Amino acid sequence: MTIMPALQPERTPVPAFDLVLVGAAGDLAMRKLLPALARRIAEGVIPRDSRIVGFVRSDAGDVLRQQVKDRLREGGVAAAEIDAMLRQLSFVTGDVSDATSVRAIGDALGPDTGRVRAYYLATPPDLFVPGSRALKAAGLLDGDERLVIEKPLGRDLESARRINDALADALPESRTYRIDHYLGKEAVQNLLVLRFANTLFERSWSQRDIDHVQITVAETVGLETRAGYYDKVGALRDMVQNHVLQLLCLFAIEPPNALAANAVRDEKLRVLSALKPIRGADVLQRTVRGQYAAGSLEARSVAGYREELGADSATETFAALKVEVENWRWAGVPIYLRTGKRMASRYSEIVVVFKPVPHSIFPGFGSVNPIGANRLVIRLQPNDGVQLQMMMKVPGSGRLKLVPRTLDLRYETAFSERAPDAYERLLTDVIRGDQTLFMRRDEVEAAWSFIDPIVEGWREYCPTPHRYAAGSMGPTQAIAMIERDGRSWAEPEAEG
Ligand code: BG6
Repeated sequence: MTIMPALQPERTPVPAFDLVLVGAAGDLAMRKLLPALARRIAEGVIPRDSRIVGFVRSDAGDVLRQQVKDRLREGGVAAAEIDAMLRQLSFVTGDVSDATSVRAIGDALGPDTGRVRAYYLATPPDLFVPGSRALKAAGLLDGDERLVIEKPLGRDLESARRINDALADALPESRTYRIDHYLGKEAVQNLLVLRFANTLFERSWSQRDIDHVQITVAETVGLETRAGYYDKVGALRDMVQNHVLQLLCLFAIEPPNALAANAVRDEKLRVLSALKPIRGADVLQRTVRGQYAAGSLEARSVAGYREELGADSATETFAALKVEVENWRWAGVPIYLRTGKRMASRYSEIVVVFKPVPHSIFPGFGSVNPIGANRLVIRLQPNDGVQLQMMMKVPGSGRLKLVPRTLDLRYETAFSERAPDAYERLLTDVIRGDQTLFMRRDEVEAAWSFIDPIVEGWREYCPTPHRYAAGSMGPTQAIAMIERDGRSWAEPEAEG
């Protein structure tokens, strides 16, 4: 076997820029954005003369700088990296929904020097509309500035449209960056490479050779500190409307003619528009809604969702869907999606199950004892990589014995350094002006058009979610849903 040398990741510097982080004292900024900036500064991707301005409601003094230090250190960022980032970070105090107070940002930045300026609304979503209006009214979006926002973009189609309309009044779509952080994950971008830089799979990537597909995003965390947000949202809106559907899109898209933002996004939109609607009583056959009850996870007892919340609630913490993409490529190929909190282990993967061989020439293998179908497992996290399960002959003489074995390509062995966090990639893409990994308005709205009827169906036919024990893989109804089709959920391969 030839051992390939482990490769270094790419590090192309961006030009110096000004970035305003609205909500710089909040959870997203502390856990994700500031650490990502600190790492990119340390690696030389972000030049030292770039400026980061934290716009916070109150207390822009030393206490806040100390908090940033503490939170980033707790998150594993090296002290030297934090100090370097703090040298580029200043704070301005004010209320982002108030144009007068927002003008202070303009004063802090000074006159336009021709650098890229980006405003990141790392705020609760109810500030997206007033925040973008105030930035516009303060004259801060009149040049080439970019505006970045995070999910959740609304809670249904109507509210998403309201946000999108307000954004469109403030600046053009070409300067609007809607983040779905799953698109920034290395393994998710690699999905495009796997498909379009290799001929091997692309020729089989259709109903001709694929029996079905499973996409699982399983989490072990529960509510954490987010009860106020999560209980109003639930798994379908929090995970499926965005992350899981985006994974489905990248899995199922037609080849775009180039790796260009609108070419890729046009193709994703086509997938979303081709989803077979799930309406009314369809939810009983094609969806499962669950909520975790008390159970045991990683050898400790954990409370159920309602106990954790301290209130009664019919919010789902698990969702499973059987979806179909109605086009020539995917007709008749079910794609099973599932995501949930407090599941047995944390992993995200796409499992592609190919059709079985049409005829067995091997004695002892046939319809009663079929030859195992090939499976391609695209592991997104943790331990990203690609595994291909194939049938092999067991060495020896006498009767021919076949067993499934796995070709295993792990990124950690192929590449020498840590994989960058999704936000490191996305923040620098904003500065580079590359929207490929950001959601366009029509995509977000198409995703809500698919989700809204499911929410309505649930209201009528499944008002109470099925219970599942924390530490399991979801309600038994989700197992029944796939077993009705003569299939079963793939269990993750044991690590080793
Ligand atoms: C967020 C959801 O968008 O993604 C969270 O709001 C979820 O509920 C998180 O835990 C999962 O992200 P990751 O990167 O940890 O898989």
